[in-house]
Amino acid sequence: MKYGYFDDENREYVITNPKTPYPWINYLGNEDFFSLTSNTGGGYTFYKDAKFRRLTRYRYNNIPADNGGKYFYIKDGDTIWSPGWKPVKTELDHYECRHGMSYTKYKGSKNRVEAEVLQFIPLGFWGEIQKVRLKNSSSDRKKIKLFSFIEWCLWNAEDDMTNFQRNFSTGEVEVKDSVIYHKTEFKERRNHYAFYSVNSSITGYDTDRETFVGLYNGLDSPVVVSEGKSNNSIAHGWSPIASHYLEIELKPGEEKELIFMLGYVEVEKDNKWESKSVINKQPAQEMISSFDTAEKVNRAFENLKAYWDNLLGKMSIQSADPRLDRMVNIWNQYQCMVTFNMSRSASFFESGIGRGMGFRDSNQDLIGFVHQIPERARERIYDIASTQFEDGSCYHQYQPLTKKGNAAIGGNFNDDPLWLILSTTAYIKETGDFSLLDEMVPFDNDAARAKSHFEHLKASFYHVVNNLGPHKLPLIGRADWNDCLNLNCFSEDPNESFQTTENQKGGTAESLMIAGLFVVYGKEYIKLCKRVGKEKEAEEAQVHVYDMIEAVKKHGWDGDWYLRAYDFFGNKVGSSENEEGKIFIESQGWCTMAEIGKEDGMVEKSLNAVKEHLDCEYGIVLNYPAFTKYYIEYGEISTYPAGYKENGGVFCHNNPWIMIGETILGRGDRAYEYYTKIAPSFLEELSELHKVEPYVYCQMIAGKEAHKPGEAKNSWLSGTASWNFYAITQHILGISPEYDGLAINPCIPSAWDGFKMKRVFRDVTYNIHVKNPDHISKGIKQILVNGKEINSNIVPILEKGKEHSVEVIMG
Ligand code: GLC
Ligand code: GLC
Repeated sequence: MKYGYFDDENREYVITNPKTPYPWINYLGNEDFFSLTSNTGGGYTFYKDAKFRRLTRYRYNNIPADNGGKYFYIKDGDTIWSPGWKPVKTELDHYECRHGMSYTKYKGSKNRVEAEVLQFIPLGFWGEIQKVRLKNSSSDRKKIKLFSFIEWCLWNAEDDMTNFQRNFSTGEVEVKDSVIYHKTEFKERRNHYAFYSVNSSITGYDTDRETFVGLYNGLDSPVVVSEGKSNNSIAHGWSPIASHYLEIELKPGEEKELIFMLGYVEVEKDNKWESKSVINKQPAQEMISSFDTAEKVNRAFENLKAYWDNLLGKMSIQSADPRLDRMVNIWNQYQCMVTFNMSRSASFFESGIGRGMGFRDSNQDLIGFVHQIPERARERIYDIASTQFEDGSCYHQYQPLTKKGNAAIGGNFNDDPLWLILSTTAYIKETGDFSLLDEMVPFDNDAARAKSHFEHLKASFYHVVNNLGPHKLPLIGRADWNDCLNLNCFSEDPNESFQTTENQKGGTAESLMIAGLFVVYGKEYIKLCKRVGKEKEAEEAQVHVYDMIEAVKKHGWDGDWYLRAYDFFGNKVGSSENEEGKIFIESQGWCTMAEIGKEDGMVEKSLNAVKEHLDCEYGIVLNYPAFTKYYIEYGEISTYPAGYKENGGVFCHNNPWIMIGETILGRGDRAYEYYTKIAPSFLEELSELHKVEPYVYCQMIAGKEAHKPGEAKNSWLSGTASWNFYAITQHILGISPEYDGLAINPCIPSAWDGFKMKRVFRDVTYNIHVKNPDHISKGIKQILVNGKEINSNIVPILEKGKEHSVEVIMG
């Protein structure tokens, strides 16, 4: 069953039934100021950091789900309704929600009154606009009452959710004209406040939650709305809110537009006050006046659209399947940008108070957006590398507001450093900007300890070399990519975190996944060294990569697939000898991408084993059989019920590693089959089971051993977005940036006649047409560039600013 449809022309997903199986959300904002918004108006807003600068409240895991947001109430005679259906939930005569590129537009109508709300954050602006359009399509004059509603968060979202003995006494507001100002803690250490305005005079307002809602009511039936009259309440402590009350008259056929703004202001420390206890409203006034008419708002909205036209114009394809085109051209690229902005901090699953930016996560995210915003990718690499230490190790996470490593989580996830080689080489290949390597980048955020970025890469590489275990394989530390494979943890205390506890110091558990990762990015490192004339360094590094390959062949092969690890005691993990968890996806992915033992048939055997043991209807599960009891020597992985999360779930992040592996063998049919199993647009019809949005990837789909296989969780913020984008565009469609040009090497389903891709690369536009007359999966007979044959599969960098045709004949 579907709950809407794709409108590709407008780059929107249109939800036609508000009762989606889970809140289906969207992200607004592209730079500093962000909102999350659901299809029924739920969600919240923050400035830069979802933990430290939360503007509005949100209660996760609420009853009913997704309760709380930016709400509008309409009272038309005795009927009360909301244009987004919630919170009032009066049945609407018509409902539609369009999630687009950084905007959401929802619309409801009831008794011939139509209300449409367009929400977006103008570029470069620290405020969310809500343009509300009301229309009377009846033949009678209508007098309606409109109430707005938001609930302020007292800035620090974590404190706000926990520290009630203080919070209930600190809330402060001011109201002037149609603007409600939130100034909690402004008089002490905060030089910022927020406001909620409307470009019209108001009949009343409320700022005290209990006065507006009523202590025993819910947001579906606030007492003020039922009574049709606000109380002009001023909050002193408790829970400050902002609600405007407007009386609106509409003649038959008449339409009115209102501009609401939820804004954020920072003021100079010595310019905070207008007069005693009265805040300096001038910056807010300036923001409000910059968008006080519908024309100004429309212009900003057009700018936002142009911004996305430009970003999405850098790469687009035309294939025979619209489901593929809409993933590659629209939604997957969009999701990559959102994960760039948010990392794993703020979604409807991640509360925005915990995780900040992850070292490994943010490096991997980069491969999904570097072609869109290379300058910001460069800055991101710098920020990430600044949280590294001289020995190559690093903080696992950092806070976006301070850009400092998060000491509470610490480090010792031994895969972390290597991802810096991935992001850096991806950036240089996309841009040709080798100067990044000479940039002085701090260690541990200490400018006095800065070294060139190249030295950071070297430190990353040698961190593995210097941390090998008894089989000369990489030590795993707290965990590798799989946060839940905690082989040195040995936790018996339910209050301990598996991620931050390392009970067995000096553990010698080893990871085959890091081994494969090291070979892949070790080779990249060597290639880069050679490219910048560091021949000696390349030679030395080559020895270590070679040794690693040998170590995997000798100690990492189980006969039909690669082992996953050696545990603390030196026992095999992910072996046919094990009772459970006989085979794991990560080492199959990385060791095949590294092509370890390809000449001996290891790659092929491994991928065949994946098909046989790990693949299922809904994707490739992480391990099989799933663990059914707690293995203290394995850690968190064995805590999850079988078939979920890292214990036998389809962890969508790692499926593309297998797709890429399949392309190495030239098996395009299988690679694409894996792609379509988890690509959200291909699952639209399954929405009822799948539950989460059909336009974005989720982290995990319940696997074959789960209670409900196919049910998905944790959508939006996941490395799944960038890896799937990378796999489909660079390995299946096979068009990938190289230092000296665009490499062309498709591995597609044999049934395809071909496809087209437009690719803007280093300011050159390539119109690539891949033709597949012989219906094969891999292999190129001829490449013609502007009609002339070239004898390499790397299309050189051609004249900038121009369009060039590239014709590729497979065969
Ligand atoms: C989550 C984390 C990521 C980790 C993965 C597997 O997606 O964000 O860092 O690699 O889980 O445990
Ligand atoms: C849990 C999750 C994992 C996540 C980790 C860090 O272990 O299973 O996916 O990466 O927490 O938050």
